Amino acid sequence: MVKTIDGKKVAAEVISECATELAELQARGIKPGLAVVLIGDDPASQVYVSSKVRKCAELGMHSEKIVLSKEATQEEVLKVVERLNHDDLIHGILVQSPPPPQIDEDAIIRAIDPSKDVDGFHPENVAKLALEDPTGFVACTPAGCMRLIEAAGVEANGAEVVVVGRSMIVGKPMALLLMARGADATVTVAHSRTKNLAEVCRRADILVAAVGRPEMITAEFVKDGATVIDVGINRVEDSSKAKGYRLCGDVAFDEVAAKCGQITPVPGGVGPMTIAMLIKNTIKAARLKS
Ligand code: GUN
Repeated sequence: MVKTIDGKKVAAEVISECATELAELQARGIKPGLAVVLIGDDPASQVYVSSKVRKCAELGMHSEKIVLSKEATQEEVLKVVERLNHDDLIHGILVQSPPPPQIDEDAIIRAIDPSKDVDGFHPENVAKLALEDPTGFVACTPAGCMRLIEAAGVEANGAEVVVVGRSMIVGKPMALLLMARGADATVTVAHSRTKNLAEVCRRADILVAAVGRPEMITAEFVKDGATVIDVGINRVEDSSKAKGYRLCGDVAFDEVAAKCGQITPVPGGVGPMTIAMLIKNTIKAARLKS
């Protein structure tokens, strides 16, 4: 019997921990604040950014949403980041990815004060993750995946894990988290150039799909009884839906669910975890400043 890993439920647990921490901080006069910067009008990014800000409001945190036009220049974005770096009400800064093509995203990430980089994308925080230094910030999506694996009762220690995708947002930090002391997994990172991808994936006790290609991971990629974490959130055209599209993951859910042990759904799997971990990181940033 396949078990769906309920990301909404696990995210609610994380949010409840955050609420407790926030009450403690409030008693000490500390109110964690998050600034979210959106450049342009990508519909999916608009939805993500709004839900991040809404979650802060629900929890009584301070938040600021800054929307720049899709023609914004590099200098304009850098000016906003610089202002936020010096704003004492703001503990966390997030610039929604991907920005429009005229923006040099790496330079923007490097301009963010690493102590406010709640996305964990700044080189200093990536290095701290590699060094297993707990004072850094870990990228929210892979941190959320780790928490889901733990909540599902799946043992990473000594397990064969295959991460499909090598992005800076998910694949690379995910691999570092899994191989770190304490998690102790044996990690393979596969990507678009990997030979015999299906065969490599079939070795996995835990398979993490972060490729951004709708339903690419089919049953032939999955070992019987494996745990499957689907990081993809893809919009695919579907004229039968009112919005004209449906959301699907990188995993062909029905056929993989028939074969694997546990699987995260899309939506309702990794997605809700990302926001929960962002709130956790913002609280950590405020704590480290206090
Ligand atoms: N776009 C997709 N995921 C993320 C994320 O975790 N952080 C930011 N800043 N942009 C994203």
